[in-house]
Amino acid sequence: VSPRPIDLRSDTVTRPTPGMREAIARAEVGDDTLGDDPSVRALEARIAALLGKEAALLFPSGAMANLAAVALHGAAGEEIIVEGTAHVFDWELGAAAALFGVQLRPVGATDGVLETAAVEAAVRPDSPWFPRTTAIFVENTHNAAGGRVMPIARMEEIRAIAARHGLAVHLDGTRLWNAAAATGSPERAWAALADTVMVTLSKGLGCPVGSLLAGPVDRIAHARRLRRRLGGDMRQAGILASAGLYALDHHRDRLAEDHHRARRLASACRALPGIHVNEPDTNIVMLDLPPALTAAAAATALAARGILLSDFGPRRLRAVTHLDIDDAGIDAASAALRGLLADAPAATGRQGS
Ligand SMILES: Cc1ncc(COP(=O)(O)O)c(C=O)c1O
Repeated sequence: VSPRPIDLRSDTVTRPTPGMREAIARAEVGDDTLGDDPSVRALEARIAALLGKEAALLFPSGAMANLAAVALHGAAGEEIIVEGTAHVFDWELGAAAALFGVQLRPVGATDGVLETAAVEAAVRPDSPWFPRTTAIFVENTHNAAGGRVMPIARMEEIRAIAARHGLAVHLDGTRLWNAAAATGSPERAWAALADTVMVTLSKGLGCPVGSLLAGPVDRIAHARRLRRRLGGDMRQAGILASAGLYALDHHRDRLAEDHHRARRLASACRALPGIHVNEPDTNIVMLDLPPALTAAAAATALAARGILLSDFGPRRLRAVTHLDIDDAGIDAASAALRGLLADAPAATGRQGS
């Protein structure tokens, strides 16, 4: 067991590399709340250009940027269509309802990819009884669907529905970098089909903190007020932005390595008895355990072997590859899972066979 556990719980667990720490140490800073932090301004301009949007705004978290998008696109008593296992629906503590009175309407999907018929059917008719539908939120890559990439063709269909009904589209692109790396299509190909886009620095790109919301100038000006209202204004945030600029230069091109390692882990696990594994599009591997093994018990047993995975459901573990995971880490994780199943033969359904 290595001194530091092999941490596959999330791509958020990375520590800044020496190069990134140097960039942070050298960062030029100002007071971003007063609008004069040069590193933040440079990062926002760069992200806006990269996504083909007029403007971008740095937030302390993806959840806050998504919440600002909720408030940009919906008001109290209005409804936003989301996919039924979307992060904004399941993992953000009901913030849309709690803080802005916006109702999220979950609809069906296959593997996290919204079905157009379900979206179309969920748009409310103009009526004195129904809440007004104002927007559609999509997530790409999709976390709970194991890092699934939304095909651009499906995004075009969603955009067409939105256009027909006068709805806005928000893209939760927290891992859009991974979708681009996996397909070779640039981030702006998806961004062009959304009004607002959220991207994150603190996941695959390996930064300590930060997400950005990009969109039209007037929407982002309003998002700045919302960020203030949510307590998300930051002062010498150039410390964070310089890490983001560094990551765009040094950590974007390497995401394919994470995807390769996720596929390696998936194929090693597929050889184990009783486990069902998705074929990862990107950096997330979902492991469905045999009936007699709970995810909580498996995660605890693996942690004792120095391997950290997250418990993602009664029988589901999630492993996420990232900057701090190398080939040896994947081999160690595969070996620990093999050992776990060998120690629990009854769980695999192999007993007596
Ligand atoms: C798809 C998706 N959206 C939004 C978020 C929220 O990001 P943060 O944890 O930076 O607030 C996450 C975090 O895991 C996510 O996976």
